[in-house]
Amino acid sequence: MTVYEKIERSASGKVILCGEHSVVYGRPAIAVPISDLRTRCWVEPAVPGSGLRLVATDLQKAVSLRAAPESHTLGKTARLVLEKLQAPEPDAVLTVASEVPIASGMGSGAAVAVAIARALSAYLGSELPSDVVNDIAFEVEKIHHGNPSGIDNTVISWEQPVYFVRGHEPEMIDIRSSFHLIIANSGIAGSTREAIDEVRRRWTAMPGYYEMVFNCIGTIANAARAAVEQGAIQGLGTLLNQNHELLVTMGISISQLDQMVAAARKAGALGAKLTGAGQGGNMIALVEEPRIAAVTQALRDAGAVKLWVTTVRGGDV
Ligand code: PMV
Repeated sequence: MTVYEKIERSASGKVILCGEHSVVYGRPAIAVPISDLRTRCWVEPAVPGSGLRLVATDLQKAVSLRAAPESHTLGKTARLVLEKLQAPEPDAVLTVASEVPIASGMGSGAAVAVAIARALSAYLGSELPSDVVNDIAFEVEKIHHGNPSGIDNTVISWEQPVYFVRGHEPEMIDIRSSFHLIIANSGIAGSTREAIDEVRRRWTAMPGYYEMVFNCIGTIANAARAAVEQGAIQGLGTLLNQNHELLVTMGISISQLDQMVAAARKAGALGAKLTGAGQGGNMIALVEEPRIAAVTQALRDAGAVKLWVTTVRGGDV
């Protein structure tokens, strides 16, 4: 008889450095994990016959797997894990708690799916490898986004900086020198699905123009990869600025994000841009250590409702 024990696993958040939206159209993008912000999932045994209960502490919601509809993302993840392992539904409670903010471009949906896939498979005695976890998280992303590029689930499943082109094997990036990012939340929830739809409407109306914009962003993403691989952090800042202006052209920035981006640059950030789907959510500022306090304050003054300072670690540490 198998004796089940409580098991916990976690997954990181993420930010996209360059290339959001154009990545949906086959151009390259770069994303980095934010390992300080984590989603935790733990699974513990419950009384025989109770089935699997799914608890989302942040949303104060609980449901049994049997009652969860197809569109329930926790339920979908758990079902995919059981299917992969060909395991029967266990009598257990699966709980998710997340520090990764929802609807802000930090990969909360993918982080929840990855944490569940790891914890539930480990609980069942056969922890799934990252590529299978990634496949599962991608299926769940389709419920969130409709047409995801796959960048979120990829960077979070491997928890490594990634150069991502849709339909190609992801390439892990070696970051030469560590750099600091300030992530600031606009206080406005952005809908990834709506932002993607807005870009598609524009692209459908003016395909030639938006293909050119996507090409420019692709060129920026390639240059940004070279910059991080060479430790050219100053150059990376300029590329982030250019990427933001093109995202503005695509109609997915909002005045709050633009104000925060401008404030960060004025206070000495090397570069700043919105990150993720936009229309709300977060922006990032690339900042040298001595400017962190000033840029943080400037972002607060510009209306940031939440801030995180994080270091993307490179080979220099
Ligand atoms: O989930 P978010 O907000 O980080 O947005 C994902 C990035 C997009 O390029 C807009 C969509 C995608 O699937 O790549």
